[in-house]
Amino acid sequence: MVFLEVEIGGLRYSNPSMLASGILGVSEGLLRRVLEAGAGAVVTKSVTLKPRAGNPTPCFVELEVGYVNSLGIPNPGYREFLQEIKDLHEKEKIIISLAGSSVEDFEVMARAVEESGFPVVELNFSCPHAKNLGLEILKRHQILFEAIKVIKETTRLKVWVKLGLSDNLLEIARGIEKAGADAIVAINTIRCLLIDIYARKPCLSSIYGGLSGKAIHPIATRCVYDLYKVVDIPIIGVGGIESWREAVEFILAGATAFQIGSGIAKEGLDIFKKVIDGLARYLKDNGFSSVYDIVGLAHK
Ligand SMILES: Cc1cc2nc3c(=O)[nH]c(=O)nc-3n(C[C@H](O)[C@H](O)[C@H](O)COP(=O)(O)O)c2cc1C
Repeated sequence: MVFLEVEIGGLRYSNPSMLASGILGVSEGLLRRVLEAGAGAVVTKSVTLKPRAGNPTPCFVELEVGYVNSLGIPNPGYREFLQEIKDLHEKEKIIISLAGSSVEDFEVMARAVEESGFPVVELNFSCPHAKNLGLEILKRHQILFEAIKVIKETTRLKVWVKLGLSDNLLEIARGIEKAGADAIVAINTIRCLLIDIYARKPCLSSIYGGLSGKAIHPIATRCVYDLYKVVDIPIIGVGGIESWREAVEFILAGATAFQIGSGIAKEGLDIFKKVIDGLARYLKDNGFSSVYDIVGLAHK
């Protein structure tokens, strides 16, 4: 018998697999389908204070090693989105991803999330291709730390913070933990550029995009491994999971849970069941009885 249950910020999840933000998490029906497919939790598409149309096409390219997108966080705004998903049961399994430009943006949206009965927010400070959001905001760390403090002081929400690849990742992570965050999610897509050699110009309308999928898994694993050395709050690994093996790698590197995004495009929603079953088998075959037996084991 192996136990797959994990606890993050005092909330329990039946297994450590989660849907990553921006992939399918745009409607009540899709979120429900991912939970039915076996995910322990689902993260919604990031929403913003005001509706956003996103970037014009072309904004998505498939590569052999993953995907490049520059969607630019298209969403109907937090109010309409919360209305769309208000009837979902099992609200404790639904994590609302918020992207904002100021402490006030996050404060207003977080209050509405709490009023709608959802207990967890994931703050997206890592989108590499949205103007005035994500990575651009992260350059001003103070907004991030203040946003965490304000949400923790004014609501009972659990706060997860999603980070991207940056030179000062570990310094920011320490600040996030000090500010009171309940978990760190790492990583978002990695800023990149594709050039159309015949048009002789960048492929994407917004020039830069974010790389996801298989190619970023070893980089994400490195981030999780390094984060584990500097913070005590749970880490949730994201990037390039296509099978249970990458999920096990994340956990051995120090993650308590993991999220799956691009892998769904290849494997379909069955990926959740395959990864969970594979993880359970790995634990059993190697004489472990719980996910916690192997969290960070690669450091020993
Ligand atoms: C099409 C697409 C849209 C995404 N939208 C969001 C988003 O709205 N918010 C966010 O935090 N991350 C977003 N991401 C990043 C993913 O959540 C994830 O961090 C990244 O894709 C790496 O995981 P993967 O390799 O499993 O896809 C998006 C990724 C893709 C491919």
